[in-house]
Amino acid sequence: MAMGDHHSARMLKDEWLTPPEILGALGQFDLDPCAPVSRPWDTAERHYTMLDDGLKQDWRGRVWCNPPYGRDTERWLSRLADHGNGIALIFARTETKMFFSQVWPKAHGVLFVEGRLHFHHVDGTRAAANSGAPSVLVAYGCENADCLRKCGISGQFVALRKC
Ligand SMILES: C[S@@+](CC[C@H](N)C(=O)[O-])C[C@H]1O[C@@H](n2cnc3c(N)ncnc32)[C@H](O)[C@@H]1O
Repeated sequence: MAMGDHHSARMLKDEWLTPPEILGALGQFDLDPCAPVSRPWDTAERHYTMLDDGLKQDWRGRVWCNPPYGRDTERWLSRLADHGNGIALIFARTETKMFFSQVWPKAHGVLFVEGRLHFHHVDGTRAAANSGAPSVLVAYGCENADCLRKCGISGQFVALRKC
């Protein structure tokens, strides 16, 4: 894996689930376009999985997006930025092309999470090791930025545009 890739060397599979306490703090989502085929809990009202290919589907409402890792991550962020209503959870690789194309110029706010998250396995168990890299929540749309500002997740919120 090249240095500067968008994920951590510890995260060599796609099925790393968002800690439920993060989702719980962010409120209800209408759609998770990249969910596991078999999941221990719902992350939104509706889910697309790799069997549907979430990138090929229609996106509606407030979207939760913890995207698959690797080269395609930018395509998911770009889709969410175009959609304009949702929150993404990605690694805080603030220097990367993806950050400069999809986050800094397009997002309404970011919340840099304090410490390192422990993601969960598809059976619901919490990973023993932390993610090995810092995480950031990225809001598209003023209401989602406001949500990040007020959600209570420990970290630093930074507003990126006027709302
Ligand atoms: C990092 S996990 C996040 C899972 C879940 N969204 C969450 O927040 O807990 C990324 C998920 O994307 C799914 N995935 C990979 N390619 C996909 C595709 N083309 N369409 C929909 N889901 C996909 C994987 O199976 C995996 O469950």
